[in-house]
Amino acid sequence: MTEPTRDEAPFRAAVERAAQRFRPAGRTPYHFARGKLRGDPVFAAMLRQGLIPADARIVDIGCGQGVLAALLAECEQPQALAAWPASWAPPPRGWTLTGFDLRRDAVAAGQRALGERALLQVGDARAMALPACDVAVILDVLHYIDFEAQEQVLQRVAAALVEGGTLLLRVGDAASGWRFRVTLIGDWLITLVRGTPWPRFWTRPLAQWIALLERLGFSVQAQPMSEGTPFANVLLKARRLGAS
Ligand SMILES: C[S@@+](CC[C@H](N)C(=O)[O-])C[C@H]1O[C@@H](n2cnc3c(N)ncnc32)[C@H](O)[C@@H]1O
Repeated sequence: MTEPTRDEAPFRAAVERAAQRFRPAGRTPYHFARGKLRGDPVFAAMLRQGLIPADARIVDIGCGQGVLAALLAECEQPQALAAWPASWAPPPRGWTLTGFDLRRDAVAAGQRALGERALLQVGDARAMALPACDVAVILDVLHYIDFEAQEQVLQRVAAALVEGGTLLLRVGDAASGWRFRVTLIGDWLITLVRGTPWPRFWTRPLAQWIALLERLGFSVQAQPMSEGTPFANVLLKARRLGAS
């Protein structure tokens, strides 16, 4: 599906304002936020498709420096609401967000950018208790932890989500050839720059991710989510079904 959505002026303006929030934390967090929000199609897709409902309790697992929360905080501002594209879902309002990540520096930069609008904490996805939530977001995180830990995290997400709640899980598709290798090289370089000398990644083909989620009680829709990048990323929109 082609979604040339990042070109919408109100979205671009919200991205610029979201990035500005990171200025006090320094040049690196600012440029990272700006580049990430401008270059990664997942944020516009989430907004355009209305994947986060009003009043959602959001948990962002592996939130990094919290760029998603910063963007949501700008999309609810009057200037964004006044100009919002009619063809997009309305921006979410009334949301709360709890995020956690292993990287202390990223969490500190994000909390500074967000003030009291969202709560970011240092924490390990493999161990953190998850609060009850309507939306769980895991973007490009699970391949950092081993297969058993991936499954345990997803089990805990299923338990934390309300019935009908949504997990937004982005993964690389290990069955997608050279694009997947480019994705891994990108992750490897980023991890190297952040100080891990020889990182290992635990990856799965898309069909295996979907089968795992279905086994854990989700109904799953997959959408390619690499537009404008050389990567092999897929957004899994997984709805938590009720106990049968
Ligand atoms: C590629 S970044 C994605 C960050 C964020 N989701 C985003 O889209 O901007 C992956 C993040 O996962 C975090 N991470 C890796 N393993 C983790 C774990 N066990 N618990 C919490 N965070 C973890 C890393 O510290 C890093 O910030």
